[in-house]
Amino acid sequence: MPDAHDKDLSRRDFIKTATALIGGFIGTVIGIPAIGYLISPSLRVNEDNAWINLGVLDQYPLGAPTLFEFTRTKVNGWERTGTNYGVFVLRQTEANVRVFSNICTHLACHASWHPEVQHYICPCHDGHYDILGRNISGPPPRPLDEFRTKVEKGSLFIHLPAFKRTS
Ligand code: FES
Repeated sequence: MPDAHDKDLSRRDFIKTATALIGGFIGTVIGIPAIGYLISPSLRVNEDNAWINLGVLDQYPLGAPTLFEFTRTKVNGWERTGTNYGVFVLRQTEANVRVFSNICTHLACHASWHPEVQHYICPCHDGHYDILGRNISGPPPRPLDEFRTKVEKGSLFIHLPAFKRTS
């Protein structure tokens, strides 16, 4: 028959075991999400390098540059930064499409399309580009940057980042 001392030991063991189990449970519940939060930025793909869906290709008119704007969130460690993009979609034929950045290659103001003169014009220093984004007057040193494109199931995609071109 167990004496009072054995009963105390058994109660003490039970409390130790229960405390360890509860502590372990709490540590797991808090620890796993915390570890995931800490290491997840290093597991993310580079968000500067991505295909962006610009919607159905047929919505863009032939021969008239159309501005499409979107925002991308860049994650750098624990810092999130939203970046606005503006691109001109130019469908030259049913199947041939080119997409240019609206960032002026002089000092990065936003150019806009002016159909009356068929130029992209940068308002900051009156830089002009032709319909294919080639710099034709003013201070811009090179053409508008361009994006690689692809069409999947009727939707137009561009690849970030844009590439620089010389002509
Ligand atoms: S920033 Fe566009 S012409 Fe100067």
